Amino acid sequence: MNVTDDIRYIGVDDKEIDLFEGQYIVPDGMMYNSYVILDEKIAVMDTVDARFGEEWLAKLDEALAGREPDYLIVQHMEPDHSANIKLFTDKFPKAVVVATAKAFPMMKNFYGLDFSGRQIVAGEGGRLPLGSRELSFIAAPMVHWPEVMMTYDPKDKVLFSADGFGKFGASDAVDDEGWSCEARRYYFGIVGKYGMPVQTVLKKAAALDIQTICPLHGPVLSEDLGYYIGLYDTWSSYGVETDGVFIAYTSVYGNTRKAAKLLAEKLEAKGVTVAISDLAREDMAECVEDAFRHGKLVLATTTYNGEIFPFMKQFIDCLTERGYKNRTIGLIENGSWAPMAAKVMKGMLEGCKDITWCENGVRIMSGLSEENLAQIDALAEELAR
Ligand code: FEO
Repeated sequence: MNVTDDIRYIGVDDKEIDLFEGQYIVPDGMMYNSYVILDEKIAVMDTVDARFGEEWLAKLDEALAGREPDYLIVQHMEPDHSANIKLFTDKFPKAVVVATAKAFPMMKNFYGLDFSGRQIVAGEGGRLPLGSRELSFIAAPMVHWPEVMMTYDPKDKVLFSADGFGKFGASDAVDDEGWSCEARRYYFGIVGKYGMPVQTVLKKAAALDIQTICPLHGPVLSEDLGYYIGLYDTWSSYGVETDGVFIAYTSVYGNTRKAAKLLAEKLEAKGVTVAISDLAREDMAECVEDAFRHGKLVLATTTYNGEIFPFMKQFIDCLTERGYKNRTIGLIENGSWAPMAAKVMKGMLEGCKDITWCENGVRIMSGLSEENLAQIDALAEELAR
């Protein structure tokens, strides 16, 4: 596939993977992207996952059409992109490896590779002339590993964005809900903790004339770039993408579920956008993205072993470790003889910045009481304000 006249796509689809990075379900597979820039000198942008080395090399050979690559640019050392560095450097012994100072020790640690004598250490503002174009490098530490850099081609106005602007799904994934759904799940699952570094890179990117974004996962983006960049700006600044309420619940015997669903109905009746998930039965990463997407969050769970139900505990941990902030939160607790859940949840979230707590809460003592119905009404009223 041609990205531009001089840039070829040589990435691969992974339809076999069960869990991406050992934890994320990817029912539509995954893309590991790699590109070749053909100029007087030839640069290859990253490799692919270990299982696809030969397929990737075959695509590379076709793109090279008998020529030899001069550089392998390693933007990111996570093994889904770096696993075939050795395959490449063995096949093309004259090619020079270009990466940041932090990447080369990782090559040694991961693969026992030492490129002393055939390496270029790239850094912020570094340049690499290829002939009719001079690539420039943009340091992108913690987006989402410390050694990451992005690369800009000023001739074709292409930004190679490493993991930035990536998404789950193979190249033939049918995105019924558009790019943003699986890109958001990817972002908050994998990059979400690093909002500040993403903001820093976005500011640098704003100074560039970009017509195409080539990420390491997901499709090449070439139209309406303002839409994608705008979403990244919202996500990385912990802004509210959707004005609505996300209700995350767990339920052992259905009573807490009843309260959560009743609240959802009451909110919807007031015209509020609502998303609701059973944390025990739905993909945790999907729930995490919904929490960051909406402006308001309701947590509903049971007291369990003097704390809270395990799936809720995991969910709140996922939020706090990703810097959850700038939201309104309401609580529904259930505790048959000693309700503790609201206190525990609030305690877990106390380090989050700019949280507005709902004045109205719901305390269920096993089954829903008349008093609980009134509490749910009051909470709905407050959230709809
Ligand atoms: Fe796609 Fe951070 O690796």
